[in-house]
Amino acid sequence: MAKISKSAAKERIDQLRKEINGHNYNYYVLNSPVISDFEFDLMLQELASLEKMFPEFASADSPTVKVGSDIAGKKTFEFATRTHRYPMLSLGNTYSREELAEFSDRISKTIPEPCSYSCELKFDGTAICLTYRHGRLAYAVTRGDGVKGDDVTANVLTIKSIPQQLTGDYPDEFEIRGEIYMPFEAFNRLNAEREEIDERPFANPRNAASGSLKLQDSNEVASRGLACVLYHMLGEDLPFTTHSEAIAAAGSWGLPVSEHSKVVDSIEDVNRYIDYWDTERRNLPFAIDGIVIKVNRLDWQRKLGYTAKSPRWATAYKFKPDRALTKLLSIDYQVGRTGAITPVANLDPVPLSGTVVKRASLHNKDQMDLLDIRVGDFVYVEKGGEIIPKITEVDLAKRPADATVPVFPKYCPDCGAELVRDEGQAKHYCPNSNNCPVQIKSGFVHFISRKAMDILAGDATIDQLYEKGYIRHLSDLYSLTKEQLLTLDGWKDKSADNLLSSLERSKSVPFNRVFYALGIRHVGEANAKLLASHFGSIDAIMAADREALVQIDEVGDIMADSIIRWFADPVNLEQIQKLKQAGLKFEQEKTKKVSDTLSGSIFVVSGVFSVSREEIKQFIESHGGKTTSSVSGHTTYLVAGEAPGGEKIKKAEKLGTRIITEEQLRELVAGEI
Ligand code: IVH
Repeated sequence: MAKISKSAAKERIDQLRKEINGHNYNYYVLNSPVISDFEFDLMLQELASLEKMFPEFASADSPTVKVGSDIAGKKTFEFATRTHRYPMLSLGNTYSREELAEFSDRISKTIPEPCSYSCELKFDGTAICLTYRHGRLAYAVTRGDGVKGDDVTANVLTIKSIPQQLTGDYPDEFEIRGEIYMPFEAFNRLNAEREEIDERPFANPRNAASGSLKLQDSNEVASRGLACVLYHMLGEDLPFTTHSEAIAAAGSWGLPVSEHSKVVDSIEDVNRYIDYWDTERRNLPFAIDGIVIKVNRLDWQRKLGYTAKSPRWATAYKFKPDRALTKLLSIDYQVGRTGAITPVANLDPVPLSGTVVKRASLHNKDQMDLLDIRVGDFVYVEKGGEIIPKITEVDLAKRPADATVPVFPKYCPDCGAELVRDEGQAKHYCPNSNNCPVQIKSGFVHFISRKAMDILAGDATIDQLYEKGYIRHLSDLYSLTKEQLLTLDGWKDKSADNLLSSLERSKSVPFNRVFYALGIRHVGEANAKLLASHFGSIDAIMAADREALVQIDEVGDIMADSIIRWFADPVNLEQIQKLKQAGLKFEQEKTKKVSDTLSGSIFVVSGVFSVSREEIKQFIESHGGKTTSSVSGHTTYLVAGEAPGGEKIKKAEKLGTRIITEEQLRELVAGEI
C-alpha cells in the first residue's frame, strides 16, 4: 500500500468501518446486500492492512474483529436477544475432492479406525436453534453473532412442520438446530407478488427465508411458506451413540428431518454421494449449496472437538454455482407498474441448471456500468439462488471489435417522458404515471388483482378496454356500460354481467385494500394495511405530513416521500373523489360494539393465539377496550399468547401490569373474573 499519513489513515479507517458496518447491516439484517462479496472482502482487506500499519487505531469494535451479525437493530425490530447455551458455530468449507481427502486424513490422525460419515444436504437457508423442554417448544433463536441471537419463537411457530409439542419418548430437555428455508415454489410466488407491488424481489431463497423469519407480523410470516429441516441435536446426557441415531429419534418425535441423509463407511462413498447430488440437486424443490459430511460416532465427535470457529468432526463440500457463457444480443428497457425502468438482457439461448436461459436482468444503470457491458459481448450468466438468471461477468478476452456501448435511455421507451432518478435510488423511472400507457395498463392490472379490488378480469381485458379508449383512469372502470363490454372480442351477455357484478361487489372491499389498490409507489399490501389502520381514512392519510407518516415504525423516508408526492398530483385527488362517488370505501370500518365490558381498560396484545392477533384486538375493541402497541404505565393488561415478545413481558413485570392469557381475556369479557 502507498505511504499514507497518520491523519489520512485515521480518516480512511473511520470511513471504511462505517461503510463496512453499513454493508454488514444490509447483508445480515436487511438481507439485501448492495455490493458483491468480493467488493466487501476488498474493503475489509484494506481496513485490516491499515489497522496493521497503525496499531494505535485498533479497536475491539472494528468489523475486522467482530463477525457480522443478523441481530436486528432496535429501531425497527423488537426481538428479544437470547444467549445460546452452546455457541452456534459455522462449518469449515472444502471446494475440491483433494481438500475433502485432507479432511478425512486429519480425522484419521485422531481416530485410527475406519470411520463412518453421515452425508447430508447442505440446506441453503438460515440457521435456527430450537430448545424443547418437557416436549414443548420453549424458544427458537437465530444464529445471531453465534453467541446470542434473536428470539423468533412466535414466527417459528407459524411453520407447519415444527411441532409445538413432541410425541414419544423424548429427553426432558434438549436443543436441536437446523435450517429454515424457503422452497422454490414459495420463493417464486413471493417474488412475483413483490414485483407486482414494485417491492424489491429477494435475490435468492436464503435471503427470502431469513428476511421472512425476521418479520414483525407472525401472520405475514405464516403466509410466506417457510420450511424447516433439523440436523444437529445437543444436550446433556442424551442417550445416543451416533448422530444419525439422534436425528432418527428426533424424526420419531415429530420433528422435521431430512430424508436424504445417508451414513457411509468410506470417503469413496462420500465422493459417490457428492457425485449423485451434484447432478440430482437440480431436481430438488429447494436450494442446497453443498454437502455436509459429519463423523457419525458421537464419542469420536467429542474426541475431535472444535476449533474457535467450527467443529473438527464436520465439513461442508460446496458446489460451484452453475454458470454458462453466451452472447448478449440486445438490451430492452422495461417499464414497470410504478414507472421503474429495468434493463433486461436478451441472450443467445443457453442451457443452465435445467432450463434454457434467454433473458437476464441487468437491474439498473449502475450494474451495467460496473460490468462494463457491451452489446455483442460474451457474458457469464448464473442463477441467483438457482432461479433468476443474472449476468455476473463479461469475458473481455472475447469482446468482438464491433461490440457497442449500450446507451441507457434518457426518455421513457413507452411514452417518451424524460426519466428521473431520485437521490440514493438505483433505478431510473418514468414520472409520467398518469399518461404512460404501460404504467396505466399495469396500474389497472394491479387495481383489479386479487389482493386489491379482486375484480374478475384479466390482463387481456384491460388491454382491450384501454385500446378501445374506455378506460384511462381507475374510476372509468365504474362507469363501464354493458354495451361497451359487448364490443370486446368474444364477449357475450354472461361475461359482461360477470364483470359488472364483480365491479359492484368490489365496492365493499375494505379501505386498506382500496388504498393498496391505488398503486402508490412503495406502498405494498402490508404497509397499506398499517397506514389504513393507523390513520383510519384516506382524508387523514392525505392530511398527514411527512413527520406524521414517518412516525410509524415501518414507514421510512422513501415511502413517506412517495405518498406525499402521490397526493400532490391533482389527477390523483380527482380520482379519489370519483372513486368515492362510485361508492368505494375510503374509511376503515369501525369494529362493531358488542358490549362495554372492557371499557376503561388498555390492552397490549403479544404472541401467537388461536386466532390472528388482529382478531384478538378486534375482540377487545368490540367489547369497549382500547389496544396499544407497547406496554407503559397506562397499560391495564398484557394479553400474552404463545411466545410473547420478551421485552413486553419484562416491561409488564417491571411495571406490575397484569399479564393474562387468551382464555382469561375471554373470561374477563364473560364476567367470570
Ligand atoms: S451441521 C457446528 N448440517 O451450513 C455446525 N449444517 O455453512 C453444525 N447447514 O452453520 C452444522 N445444512 O447453518 C449442518 N446438514 C447440515 C446443514 C448445515 C446447512 C448450514 C448451517 C451451518 C452452515 C455452515
